[in-house]
Amino acid sequence: MADESVNITWHEHLVSRQTREQTNGHRGCVVWFTGLSGSGKSTVANEVEHRLQQRGIHTFLLDGDNLRHGLNASPQRLQERGADYAERFGLGFGAADRAENIRRVGEVAQLFASAGLVTLTAFVSPYRADRDRVRQVVEAGATGGGFVEIFVDAPLEVCETRDPKGLYKQARAGKIKGFTGIDDPYEPPLNPELVLKAGAETPDRLAATVIGYLQSQDILPGKDGAPRK
Ligand code: ADX
Repeated sequence: MADESVNITWHEHLVSRQTREQTNGHRGCVVWFTGLSGSGKSTVANEVEHRLQQRGIHTFLLDGDNLRHGLNASPQRLQERGADYAERFGLGFGAADRAENIRRVGEVAQLFASAGLVTLTAFVSPYRADRDRVRQVVEAGATGGGFVEIFVDAPLEVCETRDPKGLYKQARAGKIKGFTGIDDPYEPPLNPELVLKAGAETPDRLAATVIGYLQSQDILPGKDGAPRK
């Protein structure tokens, strides 16, 4: 694959994704959690990762709040590099900035999946088109398993009651503008691989459902530890 406009060419590496997956004894994939802030994405993703690690699965969890401290920092956090730089590369919560947030995260997730990891992501990712683009990127590079989209479906009232970071309160008071679910849209997936009814079930049970799904899709090795493929 060549991009002649900027004179760059894709190189195949000596160690392939398949080799890495064979070494690990399982496939790499992207397990993409999407849902409102406070729906439980991070909690469930954390619990899933913990259980997978206990079974010897190689994993990594990419989390919205964490990545916005570094790779996808806000313009405010980048001010020390100058106002122009901060404005150009910093990300906020407007639609274009969220799209870029999800594009970068999608590319990173794809790299981690290529490294043979079960890569879990927990981002609000409110726009369907942004998530669908990530799916395309991930599925293009996958050897199977690919992209698992999980809708963490908790009613807004539940998320707002939990309000773990006090942000809904601030959004209702007009102190935060463009807050997802309050005065900014959330577009639920049309065909997710899995829907978690996150208002009604405990994180433990939801995590068990996710593991069961990954197992049913041959993404995880058999319970005896033997790789399935
Ligand atoms: S996304 O929309 O671009 O996918 P991301 O998952 O990275 O969002 O970050 C969401 C987190 O940022 C929320 O859990 C919340 O803590 C915080 N946040 C701050 N402002 C907003 C906002 N306007 N909308 C949604 N979340 C926000």
